[in-house]
Amino acid sequence: MSYRGDELHPGDPRHKLIVALDVSSAAAAQKIVAAVGDSAFTYKVGMQLYTAEGPHVVRDLVASGRRVFLDLKYHDIPNTVGAAVSEAAKLGVSMLTVHASGGDKMLRAAADAAKATPNLMVLAVTVLTSLGGSDLEKIGVRGSVEDTVVRLATIALGNGCQGVVASAREASTLRADLGDKFAIVTPGVRPAGSHAADQVRVVTPAEAIASGASYIVVGRPITEAADPAAEARAILSQIGS
Ligand code: C5P
Repeated sequence: MSYRGDELHPGDPRHKLIVALDVSSAAAAQKIVAAVGDSAFTYKVGMQLYTAEGPHVVRDLVASGRRVFLDLKYHDIPNTVGAAVSEAAKLGVSMLTVHASGGDKMLRAAADAAKATPNLMVLAVTVLTSLGGSDLEKIGVRGSVEDTVVRLATIALGNGCQGVVASAREASTLRADLGDKFAIVTPGVRPAGSHAADQVRVVTPAEAIASGASYIVVGRPITEAADPAAEARAILSQIGS
C-alpha cells in the first residue's frame, strides 16, 4: 500500500466505489483486498462475513487504511440500536446501515450515537429491493413501493441519518423529491458488458451516478474477476471524478 484511503484527493473517483466483501472468511476477504490494492479503499462488510468472523475483520481493514461500510442493517429498539452504533463507531467504521422502518425514535438513537464520531455516516435502508408491491401489502404497508421508499427516506433524513441505500431507479426519484443534501449508496451495479449474475435489475456505474448515486457498491464483478484491480480501475474510469 502506498497510501491510505483517508489520504485520497477529494475528487478521486475511488471515493465513490465500495467493494462488497461477500465471503465467509477473513482469509478470503484479505485475498480480495490485497488483489484490489490501491484501486479501491472502501469495503462493505455484511452479515455473512461479520457473522463468520466477527469484529476483527473490521478492525484489520481499518488498521490497514481502508474504510469500512458495516452493512448489518440494524433494526431493534432505540436503546439497543444506539448501543450497537456506538460499538460500530469504536471499531472505526465509516458507514453503517439501519432499517428506516425502525421508526423515528430508533433512527434518532442511531444518528445521536454516531454524532460523537466525525464522518461516521448512518445510512437507512428503506424498502428491500427483494420486496414488491404485493409483499408490502401482505405485511400491511399501504401505497406503492416508490411512495414507501420516499416516505421512509424522509423519516430517516428527518431524524439525522446522512443518507439511504437505494437502487438507481429509486435514486432518481429520491433526488427529485428530496434534493441532493444526503448520500445515496447504490448496489446492483454491473460494469457495461458484464454478467448480471442474480441481480435482476442492474445498472452500469455511469448510470448509477447519473441517477444520483453518491456511492456505488460492487461485489462479484470485482471480487470474482481474474484481475480485481483491473476490474475496479475499469469501473472507476466509467464514473470519472
Ligand atoms: O455481488 P454484487 O455486486 O451483486 O453485490 C452487491 C452487494 O450489495 C451485496 O452485498 C448485496 O447484499 C448488496 N445489496 C444488493 N441489492 C440491494 C441491497 C444490497 O445487491 N438491494
